[in-house]
Amino acid sequence: MGRLSGKRALITGGAGGIGRKVAEMMAREGADVALSDLNGQGAEAAATDIAEHFGCRAVGLKHDVTLLEDWERTVAAADEALGGLNVLVNNAGICIPGSVEDIDIADWDLTMDVDLNSVFLGCRVALPVLAKSAPGSIINISSIAGLIASYNFVAYNTAKAGVWMLTKSVALQATRQGYDVRVNSIHPAFIDTSMVDNVVGGASPEENRAKLARQVPMKKIGTPEDVGYACIYLASDESGFVTGSEIKLDGGISAM
Ligand SMILES: NC(=O)c1ccc[n+]([C@@H]2O[C@H](COP(=O)([O-])OP(=O)(O)OC[C@H]3O[C@@H](n4cnc5c(N)ncnc54)[C@H](O)[C@@H]3O)[C@@H](O)[C@H]2O)c1
Repeated sequence: MGRLSGKRALITGGAGGIGRKVAEMMAREGADVALSDLNGQGAEAAATDIAEHFGCRAVGLKHDVTLLEDWERTVAAADEALGGLNVLVNNAGICIPGSVEDIDIADWDLTMDVDLNSVFLGCRVALPVLAKSAPGSIINISSIAGLIASYNFVAYNTAKAGVWMLTKSVALQATRQGYDVRVNSIHPAFIDTSMVDNVVGGASPEENRAKLARQVPMKKIGTPEDVGYACIYLASDESGFVTGSEIKLDGGISAM
């Protein structure tokens, strides 16, 4: 018996990076998984690999998390393909640098749509579906950048801070309605994915990672597995008394 035996999870942004690793690790613990992504082919390829490797049900779905109608279609498709839905991981995201004085307005708007409004839409559409197959768990991937600001990530900081508080409001609404659905957020610092290279843009991937590691008390950056273990805990019944809460995965940054 795995820690997630019998659970059915939808993971957004599942074509690569953290989302794909979370889906793999959940499948290893016995879950059936639906992976959704703007990159539909990537999500389908990841789902095929996971189904072959772990012998679980896995589906890949094309999904733009900024669109309400895409959410309705994707949640319904995952619910039908997996025979119910217990877990939603709101993971899809982007990170565009820029300060209040120089960020393009279009980049601000896009960041709000992809990193914050999408999580609202996901919670709105999935909550009644998860309640139907309760116990349920919504896991919102925020960031340590939602708790600590930098001058040059004004949109990302703001969107991820919004996800932190949105999580608490949704958690309280779920309990108020008597839904057995818990809602929590995860706040990673630098995690070893292509997002790091897109944002740091130094001479080499190794140099980017070394530069970031120097800013962390533990002198290393995190891995997608670090996020995966936190997701497994929050998705499982082990965290049955945890809602409206947050887990920081930051190597000590926020303790400074
Ligand atoms: N990598 C880090 O250092 C780090 C740190 C803290 C938080 N996070 C958060 O973790 C999450 C995953 O990041 P990652 O590092 O795996 O990034 P990534 O760029 O490797 O993966 C993001 C995925 O989201 C998908 N995506 C982007 N826009 C989308 C849209 N509109 N609809 C559907 N899918 C879309 C992309 O296609 C991609 O597959 C993000 O929310 C990110 O903000 C990352």
